[in-house]
Amino acid sequence: MNCGVTPFSLKDAPALIERLLPVQKLSAEAFKEQEGRQSKTLTGLGSYWKGRKPLILSKACILGSLLPATGDSARDLEIFELLMGMDDASFVARWRRRPKPTEILQKLSIDHIADFFSASPDGVLPGSAPVDWLNPAYASVKVAWREDVSELERRRLEAQILPHVPYRERVEEARRPEEVMDTVHEHIWSEVNHHLGTSASSFAQLVEQLGIMRFGHRPRVADTFCGSGQIPFEAARLGCDVYASDLNPIACMLTWGAFHIVGGSTEDRRTLKHEQRELVKHVQCVVDGMGIESDGAGWHAKVFVYCLEARCPQTGWMVPALPTRVVSKGYRVIAELIPNVEHKRYDIAIRSGVTDDELTAAEHGTVRRDNRYADAYLEHEVEGRSYKTKISTLRGDYERPDGSIGSRLRLWEKLDTKPKPDDILQERLYCIQWMRPKARGKGFDLEFRAVSADDMRREEIVEEFVQAHLVEWQAKGYVPDMRIEVGGPPRYQGLDLVRGRGWTFWHHVFNPRQLLVAGLINQFSSARLKSSLTQVLNLNSRLSGFDNSEGGAAATKGAFVNQALNTLYFYGTRGTRFLVPALTQDYPSFPIPHLDQCVVENKPAASISKSADIFVTDPPYGDAVKYEEILDFFISWLRKNPAPEFADWIWDSRRALAIQGEGEDFRRGMVAAYRRMTECMPENGIQVIMFTHQSGSIWADMANIVWASGLRVTAAWYVVTETDSPLREGSYVKGTVLLVLRKRGGAHKTTRDDLAWEIQEEVEAQVQELAGLNQKARTLHRDENVFEDADIQMAGDAAALRTLTRYSVIDGRDMAAEAIRPRVKGETTFVDGLITFAVDTANQCLVPQGLSKGHWDKLTGAERFYLKMLDMEARGAKTLDNYQNFAKAFKVHDFRPLLGSLRANEARLKSAVELGRSEMGEGSELHESVLRAVLYAVMELVKNVDGNEALAHLTLNIPNYYGDMTQRELAIELSGYLENRLDARRPEEASAARVLRELVKNQRLG
Ligand SMILES: C[S@@+](CC[C@H](N)C(=O)[O-])C[C@H]1O[C@@H](n2cnc3c(N)ncnc32)[C@H](O)[C@@H]1O
Repeated sequence: MNCGVTPFSLKDAPALIERLLPVQKLSAEAFKEQEGRQSKTLTGLGSYWKGRKPLILSKACILGSLLPATGDSARDLEIFELLMGMDDASFVARWRRRPKPTEILQKLSIDHIADFFSASPDGVLPGSAPVDWLNPAYASVKVAWREDVSELERRRLEAQILPHVPYRERVEEARRPEEVMDTVHEHIWSEVNHHLGTSASSFAQLVEQLGIMRFGHRPRVADTFCGSGQIPFEAARLGCDVYASDLNPIACMLTWGAFHIVGGSTEDRRTLKHEQRELVKHVQCVVDGMGIESDGAGWHAKVFVYCLEARCPQTGWMVPALPTRVVSKGYRVIAELIPNVEHKRYDIAIRSGVTDDELTAAEHGTVRRDNRYADAYLEHEVEGRSYKTKISTLRGDYERPDGSIGSRLRLWEKLDTKPKPDDILQERLYCIQWMRPKARGKGFDLEFRAVSADDMRREEIVEEFVQAHLVEWQAKGYVPDMRIEVGGPPRYQGLDLVRGRGWTFWHHVFNPRQLLVAGLINQFSSARLKSSLTQVLNLNSRLSGFDNSEGGAAATKGAFVNQALNTLYFYGTRGTRFLVPALTQDYPSFPIPHLDQCVVENKPAASISKSADIFVTDPPYGDAVKYEEILDFFISWLRKNPAPEFADWIWDSRRALAIQGEGEDFRRGMVAAYRRMTECMPENGIQVIMFTHQSGSIWADMANIVWASGLRVTAAWYVVTETDSPLREGSYVKGTVLLVLRKRGGAHKTTRDDLAWEIQEEVEAQVQELAGLNQKARTLHRDENVFEDADIQMAGDAAALRTLTRYSVIDGRDMAAEAIRPRVKGETTFVDGLITFAVDTANQCLVPQGLSKGHWDKLTGAERFYLKMLDMEARGAKTLDNYQNFAKAFKVHDFRPLLGSLRANEARLKSAVELGRSEMGEGSELHESVLRAVLYAVMELVKNVDGNEALAHLTLNIPNYYGDMTQRELAIELSGYLENRLDARRPEEASAARVLRELVKNQRLG
């Protein structure tokens, strides 16, 4: 294609993402980005935000929606990969080091060295490479690239010496494309322009030109569930106009920060630096003026460490509640509890440089549990006798008539900032880490000390000051005055704050020092600095743990290390000097081409007012993060005195409007949102919805939502985006489905009977196309599949949905109305039935090699699942998400009993021997199946059961073995299939399967 940039020339062209997407490579890239953590582009703006979608995924969706599918899919794919920095030449730029000319000449065969390099002195090197540099004659020869060799030629040559390893390994070694954004694409533009008929030399130009060709103007991309801004930021960075909105003002603030801080101009960056310096100066000035963080001898507090304290009801002693007495493993510091008999309390000494044994002994503190799930109790010893009291007993927990749990803790009042003297739970400062600049060189001397009378005086100064100003600060909005609103079931986020501590307002979650410092930051910060404020709040609250681990450097941890808002027995408070890095953060800089065209609005998705050509959204679903509950932690600080830039937003989480859960409300909310987006999209607009699909039902839900919103599916892809989560054990959602959608024009009608044929044709065509692209890619010297089976499976399902959702009326029923009809529990709706039928039809088309279609069609879902996964295992697949995907595809309710390992990256099926005699009964999804009988016989043969006996069992285990000859034929085919697939992995079972096949084949019948 090369026809210049003509408005609307691509108006009706299918988008590339509707035809292909290099999902395997994309998965490797997305995975890499998610693992990057600290180096992630936008994370610095709010590391507390969970569930960021990878920028590279956003980029693929946006470019994939703009680029046309030209009919030459292999070339389309190549061009797309060039734009994504996935081609070989891009890897040269992504590699950590570029090879030297001598290395190239040593490793590559080059006919004429002089075509690329100049050497001095002239005439010493041979005319062609490889060159043996060990030859002493070449010792003093210097080689350099010829100046007239283009960057593209250079990269092509250098690419040849990149290691020949699978793409995923290559990505692990390389930098992310965005880390070398300035240079990675230098070589691509002439090829891109030639293919697309554009004349671009940057993404901004390309995007603008493609926008004109498709929509008549620079494209506007919208994300109405913008969250932390990963999608809108990427759209803006590529050069699109962007509309971002979210119900939650914290999400809006993060997205605003992505545009104006990371995406800001050089001038914006200078302003930010200036503002940061001024802020630190102001805060430091007040704190230093009060003398509350220095010991008067040149040391400044780095971290104050506090713990709970409670009176033991059995002894009357006040006991610090410390799950561990280790203050810092890394620095070998412990706390010692020294009984003070006179006052019935413990003095706390701090000892540094202790021995290994002392450190180990200190791991046991005064709060213990008998096992992980048991109740915690407070334990201490008086005169050699140990006294234990459950924490729940201390609090006086009791069950109310309605089954909820109450306690005897006093509920804190609005002006409280610390416990009252007769409260059950007290709080105690027990250690301070001090810092002092080293006398010579950089860095600090550090010291942990016990708390002195002077320290306590300084505490009092802070407490009194905060108390004296609290009303005023709350009125002015510098500190929170917002009630804690406990979240709903199933997790009741925030309940522990109220029930475990008696806190009722959000400022109770911060101690006086934290209130003072964060209040000052809030007071003196511009919109740009509010991100820093949220980072400080995360690090400096009563929920911010003190990191006493080996490598923890005695810092405080974020309150949002998980999303549970859990209370703590001990926590840290940073001195202001230790907060400076959070306040003067150096964010990555990616100036956005059209910043003035990037808009953020705080609105429910169902009431957006702006139109867009492309919507890329990542809506909330099911059990994901409860943003509307946990972000009150920050909202409470910002709501009353927002920066002018955020003043139009509603500083409330508006929980009632948040889309959540999985039930009727979820679907209604989603339909309202997507209907609105459809209304705000031109006829040729495109949508991409991202969703994780842990449960099989979300797939049907999404199809319903699409239908009811006036959209139709045009493609679906599955991309692995998540690493294994450290927060949850075992399996974790690892993938994202991308559903590509268009407006459903016209009012097409069909019948269920006609659909059957149409779906079959569509699916077959889709499968063939992707399989064909795999083949084509191979002929282009790529040694990896562009699509794996699971991708083709997904595309097959999508093709079925594509056919279905094209129609407005099926069998005389209006599908939009059918889709939103409330569900009756247990009932299969008309739409569900159609989707099941469509997906089934798709699955029928995906028969593994070695099985006949006729037999495959007869198998149950569980049999298909086992056989398909065996096939994939034989080809090296072992990630759990594959099993999840296929279980969903084959409608296996519970695939776990069939798996020998459920580990995320080491998943595998049970062998015949491992299955043993299990999964034979009625409760099993393999009950009375031919496959189960065959596996049983294989197990017996491996265990040396006599062949005839195993055969006799087989005939009994297979229903109607003698009445239905196809059962026997199936047993023969399955045995052969097992033999083939197990050959390399479990030779014993493979050989047993071969014996079985022969036994059945040669069995004398009648
Ligand atoms: C899955 S998150 C988006 C995450 C985002 N893609 C990212 O990478 O950070 C879903 C977002 O939807 C927002 N949300 C929930 N209900 C909403 C509604 N009714 N209208 C608009 N946004 C809503 C939540 O506040 C949340 O930010």
